[in-house]
Amino acid sequence: MDLDVVGRMLSTLPADDDHPYRTGPWQPQTTEWKADDLQVVQGEIPSDLDGVYLRNTENPLHPAIRNYHPFDGDGMVHVVGFRDGTAFYRNSFVRTDGLMAEQDAGKSLWAGLAERPSQSLMDHGWGARGRMKDASSTDVVVHNGVALTSFYQCGDLYRVDPMTTRTLGKETWGGAFPFDWGVSAHPKIDDATGEMLFFNYSTEAPYMNYGVVDANHELVHYTPVPLPGPRLPHDMAFTENYAILNDCPLFWDPEGLAQGAYAARFHRDMPMRLGVIPRRGGPDDIRWFDCESTFVLHWVNAYEDGDEIVVDGFFESDPSPADNGMGDKWQRAFRFLANDRMQPRLHRWRLNMVTGLVKEETLTDTISEFGMMNGSHAGRKYRYAYAATSKPAWFLFDGLVKHDTWTGQEQHFRFEENVYGSESAMAPRVGSTAEDDGYLITLTTDMNQDASFCVVFDASDITTGPICTLRLPERISSGTHSTWAAGTDLPQWDQADDPATTVGL
Ligand SMILES: [Fe+2]
Repeated sequence: MDLDVVGRMLSTLPADDDHPYRTGPWQPQTTEWKADDLQVVQGEIPSDLDGVYLRNTENPLHPAIRNYHPFDGDGMVHVVGFRDGTAFYRNSFVRTDGLMAEQDAGKSLWAGLAERPSQSLMDHGWGARGRMKDASSTDVVVHNGVALTSFYQCGDLYRVDPMTTRTLGKETWGGAFPFDWGVSAHPKIDDATGEMLFFNYSTEAPYMNYGVVDANHELVHYTPVPLPGPRLPHDMAFTENYAILNDCPLFWDPEGLAQGAYAARFHRDMPMRLGVIPRRGGPDDIRWFDCESTFVLHWVNAYEDGDEIVVDGFFESDPSPADNGMGDKWQRAFRFLANDRMQPRLHRWRLNMVTGLVKEETLTDTISEFGMMNGSHAGRKYRYAYAATSKPAWFLFDGLVKHDTWTGQEQHFRFEENVYGSESAMAPRVGSTAEDDGYLITLTTDMNQDASFCVVFDASDITTGPICTLRLPERISSGTHSTWAAGTDLPQWDQADDPATTVGL
């Protein structure tokens, strides 16, 4: 492995930190690495794996003003690039305005999710709550050859070089970016049209907007999606002709909001509503469908099937688990991150555009979340979903599950004890013909070896374990959202001897 340190950030976290989401498998990094020719510790790098796996990470650098929540950490992007049977790695902090201001101050300046905005040391900020730091740490997608990082509470989209992870600046769309509300995490990429679909939300009416950016990088559509009040949407879906937005009955308590408190409450007596809007439609075109009450954090995919819109996502049986007194104080405080408590299961909603009726079915008993699929099938009929299983009581992924939505069959893979994965992206094999003809890629945090690895599975059969394991320079913090971008979708990928050192985006 050819290894260089290319940067370091100031951390003021104490050596005796005891927060479980800043220690152990969530121990943040401060070092930015440049590594070429990654060491293969098992198997062989497939020669028909060509492109980049990108993963975002919440990576805190300072103690919180009062209470740290793992979604507050600063964004760090990791990339593992594959080309010609070799692999490289880079990682960088996303140079957000908030990160750079806190580096200068040497401390946290903004209140986080487990704090009130009024506790913020700054009178300005970002996000639907306001006076929060836009850490750009939630999601990462690649649109028009550039990686875009995003934040779940809405904020800027930061442009990141998908080969070097270097921050290139903020997305502006020629000045048309909705700077007032920002953009939520989970913009969606339609490979077939080159469009990016997105939404944002706020405590101000109309509470949600939806937009489309075309393959020429222009904001070509932006429309209000009026909701009954402030909501906490996290993800969206789309089909060939429609975008699917949601109004889940888990939202900030209005009485608390009036006092400056942001406490999310689940309303079991209210339906979840799915809104279907033509991709270039306006507020009068939205069709709302009442569904069984739940909160859906992530959708896997959606597609049109005759008169029906099929939407797959994770139905939570208990979106707001009560404190049952079980576990230590941290497990009780962070029970909203424990999938064994919220019990998300892959679920299918069929929305009939003619009759207005909804049919629902749970596709599996397996509790899983963070579903991915072959991106070239996004918005179209698809078969396979790849998701993560979780360690009970913790926000840690202990295994993978591949679900066949046609047959209901599942494949499982479980990491060794004390080894945790991240969201696993599906990378189609160069020249692939079948939907699952490719590779499933994830990064692990291995507490047994005090190391991290990039592991590559054969997506057609994950049960046999990794076909290739690559060592990263150091153990990285656990993290979640990821994406895959083929080399053919990246500028200059084929024009340079070393794509990871190319500049010019
Ligand atoms: Fe998410």
